[in-house]
Amino acid sequence: MPVLSKTGLHIKATMDADLLGEGFGKVNRNRYNKHTNPKGIINLGTSENKLMSDVLFKKFSEPELNVWTEEMLVYCDFASIYELRESVAEFLKAKSNAATPLDPNKMVVMNGGGSVIETIAFAICNAGDAFLVPSPFYGGLMHDLDLRAKVNVHPVHLHSKMKENETKPFQLTVEKLEKSLEEAKAKGINIRGLFLINPHNPLGEIYSTELIKDCLQFCHKHSLHIIFDEIYLTSVFKEGVQPTSILQFKPEDIPDPERTHLIWGFSKDFAMSGMRVGIYYGFSDVVRQQIVNQCCFTGIPGFIQVMLSKMLKDKDWLDNVYYATNRKRLRESYELVTRELTSIGVPYLEASSSLYLYADFRKFLKEPTFAVEKDLWHKFLDAGTYISPSQAFYSDDPGWFRIVFADKIAKLELAMERIKKVCKEISLQ
Ligand SMILES: Cc1ncc(COP(=O)(O)O)c(C=O)c1O
Repeated sequence: MPVLSKTGLHIKATMDADLLGEGFGKVNRNRYNKHTNPKGIINLGTSENKLMSDVLFKKFSEPELNVWTEEMLVYCDFASIYELRESVAEFLKAKSNAATPLDPNKMVVMNGGGSVIETIAFAICNAGDAFLVPSPFYGGLMHDLDLRAKVNVHPVHLHSKMKENETKPFQLTVEKLEKSLEEAKAKGINIRGLFLINPHNPLGEIYSTELIKDCLQFCHKHSLHIIFDEIYLTSVFKEGVQPTSILQFKPEDIPDPERTHLIWGFSKDFAMSGMRVGIYYGFSDVVRQQIVNQCCFTGIPGFIQVMLSKMLKDKDWLDNVYYATNRKRLRESYELVTRELTSIGVPYLEASSSLYLYADFRKFLKEPTFAVEKDLWHKFLDAGTYISPSQAFYSDDPGWFRIVFADKIAKLELAMERIKKVCKEISLQ
């Protein structure tokens, strides 16, 4: 009789085989530190923004953000205190250029975007159901959906090689969604929805309004849910870029509001993945209530709720300090990494709102296979830089790596030095 349950064994098997878990484990055992471990591994593999701690610490130390009240010690509204939802609603309206004000009553706050994904899955899917997800896609999605809710991904495979009528690599089209849905049906897979990450992880792409309209119509036609994961919505570092958001659509232009859902969070755009704060926003009372019903497992501390709510109310700080600094630093870091990649002839997909870029190392693979890609990944790791290979994003197009550039310049310089050294050695062989 095994010690673990079937669910426990399923979680164990999944995590034991997890590639990013392997890389992250190596980083944790041998983390780079300029003074104490200068030969340690630099982590450009985890999607985090490490550029803003000084600005955040200064804000967090303000006396108004450090007031304790009795309400913080007792159970609060499981959807979160109203004040926080009100602040997020106002913030997202301004930052997304929303067509109409957001209703705080349609919002639920949870401990991270991952929990939002899992609770949506529990609310609208049965075990064994699946979402259509354009691939490559954020690998953690597999765990968020599958580990406990046992919901699967049916990848809509996109490729770097463009077809005749395509204008960019990895282009998503409704024809590909239709084909993928047909394939899933033929295999007896029950597709419950389409999961769109916009701005995209790992491609860094921002979907056009036209494509989003087409996806909304596609989902409506097939009675599918559509989930917009917009967790990188405000990590914009290029002048004049305004990512598209489902919030820019007027209510009458959303064909099936009951099946339309939005995810946002503080992890990426506010450089605080460790705080664990994610947002659900949706128009269906039934789904939202079912999500709230699960929130006894996903609440966040009252103190943090009040603090973040106050932080979001300081519009002057948001625009002139936080975003001004974040934009500048992200841009500098992006420019450094792209310069270094160009110096060794590695193409990359241009990005404008994200913490990473997707780079094409295919010319350093002896054969275009995932085994060879994994070897190259290990070479980068052995040289002291952790980046993420395409197979971690369930791609079927080996040789691409995601590099998280939202890190300090000196560390990036060293990390890129190490990557370049590996590439040069391969070129000499
Ligand atoms: C697209 C996307 N959604 C959700 C998450 C999970 O966010 P959180 O750390 O807030 O759980 C991530 C984290 O990398 C992500 O990239």
